[in-house]
Amino acid sequence: MLDVRSATKLFGQKAAVDHVSMTVDGPAFVGIIGRSGAGKSTFLRMMNGLTPASGGQILVEGRDILALRGADMRAWQSQCAMIFQQFNLVPRMDVVSNVLHGILNRRATWQTVLNLWPRADIIRALEILDRLGIAEQAPKRAEALSGGQQQRVAIARALMQDPRIILADEPIASLDPMNAQIVMDTLKRINVEDGRMVIANLHTLDTARRYCDRVIGMRDGRVVFDGVPAQLTTGVARDIYGADADFNESATSTAIPTDTSADAEYAARMLA
Ligand SMILES: Nc1ncnc2c1ncn2[C@@H]1O[C@H](COP(=O)(O)OP(=O)(O)OP(=O)(O)O)[C@@H](O)[C@H]1O
Ligand SMILES: [Mg+2]
Repeated sequence: MLDVRSATKLFGQKAAVDHVSMTVDGPAFVGIIGRSGAGKSTFLRMMNGLTPASGGQILVEGRDILALRGADMRAWQSQCAMIFQQFNLVPRMDVVSNVLHGILNRRATWQTVLNLWPRADIIRALEILDRLGIAEQAPKRAEALSGGQQQRVAIARALMQDPRIILADEPIASLDPMNAQIVMDTLKRINVEDGRMVIANLHTLDTARRYCDRVIGMRDGRVVFDGVPAQLTTGVARDIYGADADFNESATSTAIPTDTSADAEYAARMLA
């Protein structure tokens, strides 16, 4: 279903993503790991058109999504939803409206301004929130929720798009361990029950081992590991993170990323 061929992104002379190739068949849960600057976020952003590629192809059922423009690109973007570390909700807006924003691009501007949504859409948004265990939060402002609840709202917003692929860039990096588990369990459920592919950048080996069917290790823009969690030995992890990395089994030494510029850009697009 997904066939990445030599995908490359140059920033000046530097290859942030350097001839990355992989194929994923069926609705796998794929984890991407690697130290800070390895190219994980850039790769996800190429997948959904936030960052234009410098070369290569990303074929989804035979169609090169890197070559899409205009309405075709927007149609693809609604098929592959993005989840970010910082949730990207509209803080002062109620939860159910945040979820409805997943289908904002299907609505006329005047309807959005007046916050007029068809009853069927509102019911669907509430059903999705109920499925994720947060229906009772629907009327509250997003900013009143805990981080874990906010990330589940972001997942609900993604589901509103009915995407084929969910791309998650460090979805639990801002959460405490309990909420991190709830959010990862939620993503896993969506993967298994709905058959949607999930590709998640993850910053701990433990999480990658526990939730993923497949793990991709990136280093300096290149794929240096591609296998199942059982193959992810300490030696392999040292290859991925670098011999100098002082990682342990539960967390790597790479700093938890705090870059929110991508999140802000996405939010701006959602609201444009
Ligand atoms: N817009 C940009 N302009 C120039 N260089 C960039 C840009 N975005 C990313 N880079 C560079 O590309 C490389 C890969 O960055 P990327 O954010 O994809 O890494 P990452 O693996 O997601 O890291 P982290 O774990 O810190 O989130 C880095 O060297 C980064 O400095
Ligand atoms: Mg990143």
